[in-house]
Amino acid sequence: MNACSPLTPLSLLLSAALLVSCGRSSTHESDWEEYLGGPDRNHYSSLTQINPDNVTQLQVAWEFHTGDSGQMQCNPIIIDGRLYAATAKGIPFALDAATGKELWRIPDTTRRGQILRGVTYWESGDDKRILFTRGEWLYAVNAVTGEIITSFGDGGKTSLKAGLGESAKQKHVESRTPGTVYENLIIMPLSLSEGSDAAPGHIQAFDIVTGKLAWVFKTIPGPGEFGYDTWPETVYENARVGAANNWAGMAVDRKRGIVYVPTGSAAFDFYGGDRIGSNLFANTLLALNAKTGERIWHFQFVHHDIFDRDAPAPPNLLTVTHNGKKIDAVAQVTKQGYVFLFNRETGEPLFPIEEVPAPPSDVPGEKAWPTQPRPVKPLPYARQTLTENDLNPYSAHRDSLLTLFRNSRYEGPFTPLAKNGSIVFPGLDGGAEWGGAAVDPEGVIYINSNEASWLISLDKAKPREAALTGAQLYTSFCSACHGANRRGNPASGYPSLHDIDKRLTRDVVSDIIEKGKGRMAGFPAITRAQRDDIVAFLFGEKQASQPAAANVRTEIVGEEPVEYKISGYTKYLDADGYPAIAPPWGTLNAIDLNTGEYVWKITYGEYPELLEKGIPLTGSESYGGPVVTASGLLFIAGTKDQKFRAYRKKTGELLWETILPAAAFATPATYEVNGKQYIVLACGGTKNGAPKGDSYVAFALP
Ligand code: HEC
Repeated sequence: MNACSPLTPLSLLLSAALLVSCGRSSTHESDWEEYLGGPDRNHYSSLTQINPDNVTQLQVAWEFHTGDSGQMQCNPIIIDGRLYAATAKGIPFALDAATGKELWRIPDTTRRGQILRGVTYWESGDDKRILFTRGEWLYAVNAVTGEIITSFGDGGKTSLKAGLGESAKQKHVESRTPGTVYENLIIMPLSLSEGSDAAPGHIQAFDIVTGKLAWVFKTIPGPGEFGYDTWPETVYENARVGAANNWAGMAVDRKRGIVYVPTGSAAFDFYGGDRIGSNLFANTLLALNAKTGERIWHFQFVHHDIFDRDAPAPPNLLTVTHNGKKIDAVAQVTKQGYVFLFNRETGEPLFPIEEVPAPPSDVPGEKAWPTQPRPVKPLPYARQTLTENDLNPYSAHRDSLLTLFRNSRYEGPFTPLAKNGSIVFPGLDGGAEWGGAAVDPEGVIYINSNEASWLISLDKAKPREAALTGAQLYTSFCSACHGANRRGNPASGYPSLHDIDKRLTRDVVSDIIEKGKGRMAGFPAITRAQRDDIVAFLFGEKQASQPAAANVRTEIVGEEPVEYKISGYTKYLDADGYPAIAPPWGTLNAIDLNTGEYVWKITYGEYPELLEKGIPLTGSESYGGPVVTASGLLFIAGTKDQKFRAYRKKTGELLWETILPAAAFATPATYEVNGKQYIVLACGGTKNGAPKGDSYVAFALP
């Protein structure tokens, strides 16, 4: 499965090489050493103590309260009996994995939170390190004590902007997903703005010992580089287009020395009039030489993305049998509901991929790409069409849903945004999302998929004046997510700012605007004076100062500087907050990647109040992926119903479920300490209006 299998006498000769390439001297099947279970990101454990016959006896072994509640997306790692994870604010800590007792935690020097999906472990001899990010910094601490390693970078930290060029200096850069280790290098994901103030999303490797930048792969190529001709020439010079970043994480084949890096869209996400072209290496799976960053092969999943169809999860590395031959493969799940499968070495697709015609955009200056790739097999795991007959049959508001449907543009999964609103389906949160997929050694992939439609319009912003008031700044920077009326869209995860003066201080709000918070990226390009004006507006005060000089996003279309804005990140819901479309609203899929055929598919997730009314199981959105074990179990949480469930992986039969202290929008981890197998997960709730939680809960047999 991966290069880090236990050493056999035969492989002892190679042990010196494995010693470095695995980042630790030996691997332990009892541990969960890396993000999502290993370098293959397969969410797989070979442990068998918990099995289909005894899973119903699972009980809480310990619960650890982190002290700060809020959404947690963290997949803990467990090494030598220590569990490493982060709080809702992104504060890393270590626990005794058998008892849940805290061993150390990094001091909280931030006023704001940041989502951390995990941390990275590395060791060389006695030098054991945890690497984590905060803001634009990558830190290294001693894994045993939590003490900062001052010889790393500048007194223990190194900047994630190091290789991004001059234009990134004033831009928002952080990383929420842990880096990927290859020998002494850590290769880093980046989380950036989705506007045209986005920094370039180049892939960077840092030396884990020194903190120095080791290599950079440019996802937005410069003159003379492959892919440069897939953008207008001016893009590179002006640095007005950014992103094309890997934010979801990577997988690494340490034996071959190849890191697999899926990227997201270029930014601004929804208008590409200033980036006409296919836009390599946005929305692309990159196979890079892990030592040097050189490109080996690539495949683009969405050409000229104007749909926010970022590759949402790390790829899975697996071995399949095709035409009687064993092939080491890489699979990528997508928001649009397709699994792409390639030969890991050559990039050759293992099932044919067609270019399917896609509709044109009617927004001035925009040129949607005329075709988009779709694999012939496996069939999509998320619905690809909607008609008037597919609206929610249980809704009390069918008429208004139908009117909205008729008034909006919808022409399949690649419908460009339109002035009067377009239905985005599969939606912005998939299909698949950041939790990613599990894969077992038999070559079966397990994917939890969302089926939610979104309703979004794209329009020209009002021509900009030289100076803007706080209210105008709010409209251009904040209203897309927090609403024109400042009431946000809590059902979609965008908080109301209406009574923000009662909840937060002016300083904290100003800080959030600059640096972001949780899922919200910061706006470093907004000046201090402009921040004051926005805060004054939010606090219902008179303009604090003269309107500050504008420093905002503009796109050049023809001669006119114009800006495009979306109406908001809004789901297509009825007046009661239920999805506009007919169930299922979430599914769990098992697909055999040897054959491309479905093993099973079930509706996943529930709305208890609808079940009570006698409405059949609807499914729901889920965030965070499954875990699959050698004993034949598939564990998964991720739903707002607060449940944690175990299925028989062969059939999809539900074997066990329990109610968590709060919904776990996170992928579990399983490990063994002192002969006992545990399965642990982060219960932070909060997303989509779920009650908050602050704990990690571990289950074990009595
Ligand atoms: C791309 C979407 C988006 C944009 C644009 C955006 N926000 Fe946010 N904002 C969010 C999300 C999502 C959260 C919730 C963050 C979390 O806790 O994970 C949030 C949280 C906040 C909070 C904290 C609210 C609380 O109750 O704790 C404040 C204050 C805030 N935003 C202000 C602003 C201001 C002011 C702007 C404009 C300068 C802005 N936001 C632009 C998405 C956005």
